[in-house]
Amino acid sequence: MATSFLILAVFALTCSLGIASDHGPLQDFCVAMPNSPVIVNGVACKDPKLAHANDFFFSGLNKPGNTSNPVGSRVTPVNVAKIPGLNTLGISMVRIDFAPWGINPPHTHPRATEILTVLEGTLYVGFVTSNPDNRLITKVLQKGDVFVFPEGLIHFQRNAGYGNAIAIAALSSQNPGVITIANAVFGSNAPISDDVLVKAFQVDKNVVDYLQSQFWMSN
Ligand SMILES: *[C@@H]1O[C@H](CO)[C@@H](O)[C@H](O)[C@H]1NC(C)=O
Repeated sequence: MATSFLILAVFALTCSLGIASDHGPLQDFCVAMPNSPVIVNGVACKDPKLAHANDFFFSGLNKPGNTSNPVGSRVTPVNVAKIPGLNTLGISMVRIDFAPWGINPPHTHPRATEILTVLEGTLYVGFVTSNPDNRLITKVLQKGDVFVFPEGLIHFQRNAGYGNAIAIAALSSQNPGVITIANAVFGSNAPISDDVLVKAFQVDKNVVDYLQSQFWMSN
């Protein structure tokens, strides 16, 4: 009896994993206690009676990120690591700054859909659908425009104006994660074997070695 209940519980959990990105909360909040010795999916909660306003607060998103880097952009995340009260709530935010011609390179969030709005400037944005179509869907966004990058899909942004650009985006996870494609494929630690990349990209070994020797920054 207990076993069949356990199987049912595991089955229910597996089903819900397929439906939502982050699990819904089972109480008002669960303020993260990052130094807890308890390992859970997410972060362990501190006693709700000890929660205070600063657990739900972050200050400083008015400050521009430093875009002096090879890609000319900077992402400032405000996730569960910055606001412990976000734990279990399935949402977070980023500010993205772009220098003129700056890009946020192709990347994916394994756990979140992203909804982005332009506060300043003009952005050329896009995402690519999954196999086999790999359709590229793009748009030029002006100040006040809003665009959605569906969960898991590879997407990018480029500053298409003359000045700096600023965007704010919300993501449907307390910890969306980022996989920057170039970094993951050519900058992995340890490197993916030449044999794999030569065949995968149908290029010479020296092209693979060249790409692997680049510095792949994550903005
Ligand atoms: C921005 O980053 C560059 C490169 O790391 C650094 O030299 C510069 O001092 C930084 N600027 C500010 C204002 O922090």
